Amino acid sequence: MHFAYLGLFRQLLSICLAVSFVLLPSKAYQDISDKTLKSLPRPGKDFDIHDGALLSPILIPRVPGTPGSTTVLNHFVNFFRTSLPTWNIEFQNSTSVTPVSNGKEIPFVNFIASRDPPWASKGDVGRLTLVAHYDSKYEPEGFIGATDSAAPCAMIMHAMRSIDDALTKKWESMKAKDHHSTLDDHVGIQVLFLDGEEAFNHWTDTDSLYGSRSLAQHWDSEVNPAMSIYKTPLSSISLFVLLDLLGAKSPTIISYYPTTHWAYQKMANVERRLRDLNMFKSGGRVWFPDSSKNEHQLLTNGRVEDDHLPFLRRGVEVLHLIDYSPSHGFPKVWHKPEDDGEHLDMDTVEDWSLLITGYAAEWMELEGFMPDTEAKRSSEDESTAKKKRSGKTEL
Ligand SMILES: *[C@@H]1O[C@H](CO)[C@@H](O)[C@H](O)[C@H]1NC(C)=O
Repeated sequence: MHFAYLGLFRQLLSICLAVSFVLLPSKAYQDISDKTLKSLPRPGKDFDIHDGALLSPILIPRVPGTPGSTTVLNHFVNFFRTSLPTWNIEFQNSTSVTPVSNGKEIPFVNFIASRDPPWASKGDVGRLTLVAHYDSKYEPEGFIGATDSAAPCAMIMHAMRSIDDALTKKWESMKAKDHHSTLDDHVGIQVLFLDGEEAFNHWTDTDSLYGSRSLAQHWDSEVNPAMSIYKTPLSSISLFVLLDLLGAKSPTIISYYPTTHWAYQKMANVERRLRDLNMFKSGGRVWFPDSSKNEHQLLTNGRVEDDHLPFLRRGVEVLHLIDYSPSHGFPKVWHKPEDDGEHLDMDTVEDWSLLITGYAAEWMELEGFMPDTEAKRSSEDESTAKKKRSGKTEL
């Protein structure tokens, strides 16, 4: 915590030094309005587990280094190239021997997609970073991992698609008004679909988190161009929001980290407002039981090992959205063959995608730029038609 605080202070200091022109008075942080929350699109048939455009292609075994893994990676690439063509796509690759690979190096491919304000150079953008792992577990054979983490990947895809036009509009309007010289205006967004989260044998420090360990190390050592506001791609992560084991009914999300409890509370607030507006179809009790606590009252013994650890250890601020409670543990289907499409609670999965959309829209300050539902629906039809016309592109 101490380290992260110093890091932030240094960053602010360097921002102040780097931005030498006059700062415009920053507008007050604006919550997303009820009207906007009410107009957020649900993923609907795109999340059909049999033939939905977003979710169904991920519901296959996708063990690192197998054809299923490549198929899912191709699905991500196709989605971003077709539906979000202004996003920048990258891969970060590594190889590693695993306990079951008989000395063979297995490839791990992290998928990275990002979108920055058009005027900002790469090293000057702090990015809200939404993360899920896309690999599935080696055992039991044929394991699908619908909550772990196919559904979280699809939730993030839906959320990014739902805010993309608003980002374009907001940035165009800022550019037109020449209003892009405040610090707020170096805010970007990024998606990480990580490979090799699961252990092949028993979870150890070396048999788990293959992709995230490699990416965190790589981004810690890579240096942004000289004079950048952020020294490394790692320090460009403003908040690392990790989604894992989501899609079972009535999840419990604990707040793990005092330094990001404010971000947890903001998420809880969007949840509460969506419920108040009857936008939550899954009903049930609230998902964020720690929201009324302050940051000194959080449990400190409940940390769950996951893809955030290699980042957390290097000072990255993390919000861990994982369905876990000390009394109930993980969802019932956890690491069982039943963690498949049929066992997802689809109302919950859709509610999660609304929540992530609303949260991202609020973080990116998109109030006033989000389309109303009707406009959104017709643009989705259009992009589906476009997809059909253009066919698939391969890696
Ligand atoms: C990483 O792996 C992907 C998928 O195999 C491949 O398309 C890409 O070219 C590789 N990238 C680099 C930088 O080697």
